[in-house]
Amino acid sequence: MYEISTNELFLWIKDIKSSNQNIDDFYLLLDLIGGISKTDLFLLKINSKEKVFLKIDFHSLKKKWVEHTQLSKPIQYICGSSYWRNFKFELTSDVLIPRVETEQIVEIATDIIDNKDKKILFADLGTGSGSIAISLVLENRNWCGLATDIDMNAIIVAQKNYKKISLDSKLNFFCGNWWEPLINYSGMINLAISNPPYIPRNVYEKLPSSVLDFEPKKALYGGEDGLSHFKQIISDAPKFLVRGGWLILENHFDQSEKIKNLLREYGFNSLKTINDSFGIGRFTIGRYK
Ligand SMILES: C[S@@+](CC[C@H](N)C(=O)[O-])C[C@H]1O[C@@H](n2cnc3c(N)ncnc32)[C@H](O)[C@@H]1O
Repeated sequence: MYEISTNELFLWIKDIKSSNQNIDDFYLLLDLIGGISKTDLFLLKINSKEKVFLKIDFHSLKKKWVEHTQLSKPIQYICGSSYWRNFKFELTSDVLIPRVETEQIVEIATDIIDNKDKKILFADLGTGSGSIAISLVLENRNWCGLATDIDMNAIIVAQKNYKKISLDSKLNFFCGNWWEPLINYSGMINLAISNPPYIPRNVYEKLPSSVLDFEPKKALYGGEDGLSHFKQIISDAPKFLVRGGWLILENHFDQSEKIKNLLREYGFNSLKTINDSFGIGRFTIGRYK
């Protein structure tokens, strides 16, 4: 642990605020790498004569902040971790930073299964850091999962996260194109979830440099209209889902109607768009007849 005076820390915070830098990014850095949460800071303010103990020396912390502000590198990649739902996930540049709006997909999946005692086999297609799959097996004791990704490095990150968070082995990981590595589970999957790359070309090209320069293109870019991966996932889904099985997809703000049409074409019913907390039709679900 490294000791600094609270005054020194508060002066720095004051500087950041007065120079209009993003103070929430700073709090995240301080938490993820310094080990001081916002609540800790609030308590410190009350006793502001105390010393602060950081997990990193002050000089290195300052260097990391400069790296963030000068290069627009996301704090999560600088720290190699991110909070998502109840967990802290490790990240590398091979995986997307799990987004806050995606957190809802765990509730949607959990709520869709009425019988909580039923054994469920689910697939998380394009697992990235493993955040969705890991949350689902930890929050649903009767569920087992299959997590796939096209990128072996992402699979390594997801496996590491699962091992760190849980001692169970209810989650298996596979590298390959969408459903392809799950051929042995054909017709057995009760529920499939995917947050595939869905950003259309014209939007992708205009993303801020914090995204374009640091987040993996293969995690974001969905082809000309953003729909190419949905087409693959939906068209193969009937081979893998049980009758009555559900498919839950995250999509871009304006894609849900087109996705519903695709789902209809491949034999799905009970189609529904679910809004995220910002009122955007972020999730599309369907049930295989
Ligand atoms: C938007 S990210 C989602 C990551 C994670 N599930 C989340 O919600 O944070 C999409 C993921 O799909 C993976 N992916 C892209 N193309 C794929 C493919 N053809 N087959 C399987 N996974 C793919 C990417 O590597 C990436 O990890």
